[in-house]
Amino acid sequence: MAEMAIRALITGASSGIGESAARRLAREPGAELVLVARREERLRALAESLPCEATYVAADLTEPDAPERIRAHVSERFGGLTLLVNNAGAAWRGTFADGGYANVQRHIELNFSAVVRLTESLLPILRSSAPSAIVNVASTAGRVSRAGTGSYSASKFALIGWSDALYAEERPHGVHIGLVLPGFIATEGFPATELRERALTRWIVSTPERVAEAIVETGLRGKAERYVPRPYALAATARILMPGLVRRVLSGGSAAALTTSTAAESRD
Ligand SMILES: NC(=O)c1ccc[n+]([C@@H]2O[C@H](COP(=O)([O-])OP(=O)(O)OC[C@H]3O[C@@H](n4cnc5c(N)ncnc54)[C@H](OP(=O)(O)O)[C@@H]3O)[C@@H](O)[C@H]2O)c1
Repeated sequence: MAEMAIRALITGASSGIGESAARRLAREPGAELVLVARREERLRALAESLPCEATYVAADLTEPDAPERIRAHVSERFGGLTLLVNNAGAAWRGTFADGGYANVQRHIELNFSAVVRLTESLLPILRSSAPSAIVNVASTAGRVSRAGTGSYSASKFALIGWSDALYAEERPHGVHIGLVLPGFIATEGFPATELRERALTRWIVSTPERVAEAIVETGLRGKAERYVPRPYALAATARILMPGLVRRVLSGGSAAALTTSTAAESRD
């Protein structure tokens, strides 16, 4: 796939990881991009600034008609699609006792159901454009769950489980499924402010540009799974091999500090 001109659609392209992915993919030879998010002004400005063909669809991915609007745009514009980057997502902090089912539901709607619905509507185009790929941006929180981020983790665990099955199902059809699992990445939606302010924890916060490289590795170079930064894979491994230890650590003081300062931070 690396030699072919790419036709890619990136959700959540108006900021953070999605914007970095768009800037990175735009540098691929002959790239043509479709950018998706709600904030139209940002998408327009980004599309105009990219060194490649780029259009956009301003859409709330949780709206019932969003997948069809996007599919129609792709069909009209391209006829084909070689890469879908399912990146849009958010986290709203809160314990289950505080947020209840409503908070679980809003995470699932955006971080899981919206991904499934968009993929369903674009899969026929991806199959007919094969070799092609889908990259699902999950999270290390989809492997290890912490206090205060259970709803977010539930949505990302679901995304990972579904992606693993899809990988096997779509392999015979030439649609590669890549999974990207970021750890703490400083973005608008996930500022990781306290972690970045402390010398002791600053090193664990990475950049959207590094996640964009992982999206290229999984989406264009055939890699199945990438943690960003890579050592976060150790946390996922420890959760399986040493569950008791991980539970003790995550229920202790240091984990509580992390929980209040990071992954579940959000705009609202
Ligand atoms: N940063 C981290 O530490 C981290 C760690 C692990 C995983 N991730 C995952 O990485 C992905 C990107 O996050 P980010 O860090 O780049 O956060 P971000 O800067 O807040 O970007 C989120 C993007 O999603 C879009 N979005 C949110 N709700 C939407 C909706 N209803 N419909 C359409 N688009 C929507 C936003 O655009 P609009 O507001 O314009 O719609 C924005 O472009 C998410 O799936 C997140 O879970 C992030």
